Amino acid sequence: MALRVAVTLGLPDRLRDAAAPDRLAAELDASPVALELLLNHLVTLGVVEHDPAGYRTTDRGAALCADADNRLFDLLHLDAAGGRAELAFAELRHSVTTGRAGYPRRHGRDFWADLAEHPRLRETFDRQMVDRSRAWLPAVVAGGDWARFATLVDVGGGRGALLAAILAAHPGVRGHLVDLEPTATEAARTFDAHGVADRARVTAGSFFDPLPTGADAYLLCDVLHDWDDEHAHRVLARCAEAAGPTGRVLVVEPVGGRQAGTAHDLAMLVIFGGRERRVAEFRDLASAHGLVLDAVTDLAGRCLLEFRPG
Ligand SMILES: C[S@@+](CC[C@H](N)C(=O)[O-])C[C@H]1O[C@@H](n2cnc3c(N)ncnc32)[C@H](O)[C@@H]1O
Repeated sequence: MALRVAVTLGLPDRLRDAAAPDRLAAELDASPVALELLLNHLVTLGVVEHDPAGYRTTDRGAALCADADNRLFDLLHLDAAGGRAELAFAELRHSVTTGRAGYPRRHGRDFWADLAEHPRLRETFDRQMVDRSRAWLPAVVAGGDWARFATLVDVGGGRGALLAAILAAHPGVRGHLVDLEPTATEAARTFDAHGVADRARVTAGSFFDPLPTGADAYLLCDVLHDWDDEHAHRVLARCAEAAGPTGRVLVVEPVGGRQAGTAHDLAMLVIFGGRERRVAEFRDLASAHGLVLDAVTDLAGRCLLEFRPG
């Protein structure tokens, strides 16, 4: 929590130049005594050092700066979606005893309603999604047989990084992304920036409502793990209905027991009431909508599960 508060107050950036605690407290409108307690603890953590000029960020502490080439800043900042979401871990006992999300108990509304209410949370979440996809996106693009689909709908496609990369790699594929605003508008910008806008449509809307019909495939990347079974069924029902008798449904996620880490599994639980499902759970979930699991492909950090109509 000391690191989270340090990042939220901007201390690692501010202390690139040494500052005396009184001056810093005045700048930050913080309690001088309390701020020094925090700074002294940051010294023991090795992220700040103390010398005659005052407190200063160490090389280790530079990893917490806004421009560090990692995702720590948004994950720790208490006013960014990632940092705020992790506060839901204080409700882990509730989640474990009920099987439900802790986020609404902690923040008064569910994660998605909170994003809708606070544009900064939406902005930081969408950015975090793009940042975290850099690790596995090339493997997903290279590992899937995307060229055999003339039309592909990316359901809950975020800012469109994955769909843009698939379209760029496969000139014969046309894409259609569905997500909520303002994310959908950002996706249209991504398609422009990648030079694929002529083959990419964007629909701003909910995947709990009817989806564009008749595409060859419907992609759900890191979507189902955000939802409990009731909602996951509703999303899959929309995909199966839109896919009709010939379309396929593709799920890309870390799968339980394969790529998914246990800590992330707990995060899905406390934040969303979701989880990293196992292959058998996906199979059961999808079979309720007439979908048959056809293929499971392990990709770096993710799994691609392909369903066909039964
Ligand atoms: C974990 S993100 C994954 C985004 C993207 N597929 C990716 O892998 O980077 C989940 C996405 O679902 C979208 N989403 C949440 N609720 C939605 C809804 N009711 N309708 C459409 N999209 C929704 C979010 O806006 C977000 O972009």
